Amino acid sequence: MEKINIGLIGLGTVGSGVLEMISNNQDKISNITGRELIIKTIVVRNVAKHREEVADDILLTDDVNDVINDPDIKIAVEVMGGINPAKQIITDLLNAHKHVVTANKDLIASHGDELAKIAHKNTADLVYEASVAGGIPILRTIVNSFAADEILEVKGIVNGTTNYILTQMQQKSWSYEDALKKAQELGFAESDPTNDVAGIDATYKMIILSQFSFGSHIALEDINIEGIQNIKLEDVTQAAKFGYTIKLLGIATRVGNGIFAEVAPVLVPSDHPLATIHNENNAVMVTGQAVGETLFYGPGAGGLPTANSVLSDIVSVTKNIVLGTTGNTFNNYQHESEPIDKSN
Ligand code: HSE
Repeated sequence: MEKINIGLIGLGTVGSGVLEMISNNQDKISNITGRELIIKTIVVRNVAKHREEVADDILLTDDVNDVINDPDIKIAVEVMGGINPAKQIITDLLNAHKHVVTANKDLIASHGDELAKIAHKNTADLVYEASVAGGIPILRTIVNSFAADEILEVKGIVNGTTNYILTQMQQKSWSYEDALKKAQELGFAESDPTNDVAGIDATYKMIILSQFSFGSHIALEDINIEGIQNIKLEDVTQAAKFGYTIKLLGIATRVGNGIFAEVAPVLVPSDHPLATIHNENNAVMVTGQAVGETLFYGPGAGGLPTANSVLSDIVSVTKNIVLGTTGNTFNNYQHESEPIDKSN
């Protein structure tokens, strides 16, 4: 069977999950794609730290050029996160005609348009299912299953760390600080958890969801953002007394010709489906004009759930390679942006 070589950039929680899933599910992947997927090279900051985790036949290196300049590598998987140096690395990979799979919501929300153009120019795929809501296959669902419907609203819980914190405060009366510490230990939080608790991580995901739902890019500064840093245990218990659950929600709604978007802690009636989403789980509610309200639920963070979304992208790219259909845009970046309605 023909092989497809992959370069993995980053070996943290998600990267390790990708390595594990490829090795455990090789037969299934080969049956679907007709190709054997090989992790040929892994790029990490500290080679000595990861030596034990990696089989001897994989090149473990701290030089990303070992992927960029390797003509045998067709797919690069970027799971290092952050905007710099990831932006330059992905640009170089695309210009070297590699297909890129990434979980990097910060980068895609900020520079997705520019990178999609570079991918298109190089007939390369650039896909990032794992960038939004970890293990929930929401982006491809919007592209494929809402292809003909007009989406009126997309909203939900798209940050696992804050949902974990709010759940522990509500169910176990933990302090905010203890719950955050535990979320970091469990590997849900970003390396700087400020992005989680201040609502920035959720905002990046809402930017991507809005792009897919409405074909419009919303800039970070056009979104009202409030995090959960000021939520006290008392707020959570008082809300519960009145039949409400505090959830950090991201909301993007069509208003006239524009989109209104915000991320904020919201009092959700405790019998509403979104109030029943606990721990690091996420849920995305998509309302279409024809279909009405739909709800997608699953783990929003964590190694294997996020790796599953990365693997779905790798399989999709591999199928495109086999069929000769690479270079098609994953999202709706081909649409003109619509004006943003800031009046709401
Ligand atoms: N820190 C993110 C979260 C990880 O808690 O949701 C997944 O994007």
